[in-house]
Amino acid sequence: MSDTSFSRLVHVDRDAGVFRVARRSFLDDAVFEAERSQIFDRCWLYVGHSSELAKKGAFVTRPVGGRNLIFNRDGAGSVRAFLNSCPHRGSTVCRDRAGLAKNFTCSYHGWVFGADGKMRDIPGKEAYVEGFGSDGCADLVAVPRLEQYRDFWFVCFDAGTVPLVEYLAGVAGMVIDAFRWPAEVTGIAPEIWAAGVACAILIALWRALGGLFD
Ligand code: FES
Repeated sequence: MSDTSFSRLVHVDRDAGVFRVARRSFLDDAVFEAERSQIFDRCWLYVGHSSELAKKGAFVTRPVGGRNLIFNRDGAGSVRAFLNSCPHRGSTVCRDRAGLAKNFTCSYHGWVFGADGKMRDIPGKEAYVEGFGSDGCADLVAVPRLEQYRDFWFVCFDAGTVPLVEYLAGVAGMVIDAFRWPAEVTGIAPEIWAAGVACAILIALWRALGGLFD
């Protein structure tokens, strides 16, 4: 969908005090796909909080920006994010919503992946050529960008995007700081305050939307 088409979806007349959004903005599949490709595939998206991965091996699975992800801490303590899609035939690898796991085993054909995403085992691997997977083709696919601000972790599906800190600079970063401070002072679980991150994401989205409609 072209920028020209987008401009027809919003009618702004400041002098008359008019701001109207066409109803089809919320119903049209083309608008939805354009939002995904022009916003959600490019911007930083909140995936989770460090407190959700307190222990080595901790994981959660959740959809982010239209993709199902595994957000986890591996055995060495590193936080990671992978597409929850098997590199073999695309089946969902982990079907649990949260837990502890040293490995993830795909239920379709039994490929086994470590918490670091590396392929660990393939049933019947003698049928494959020697060295199969040594180039990483059989590993879980890591999200192109994973970065943190404070204890808040974000992913981006565009490898070439600006660093998270630069992206959040200004209002969005201040909002996160504002929600982090009361967690430390009150002792209330950070993940509760993490709901405030939605505000930061909304601000970021509105900024992106502003670019579309300018
Ligand atoms: S689709 Fe996962 S092992 Fe085949």
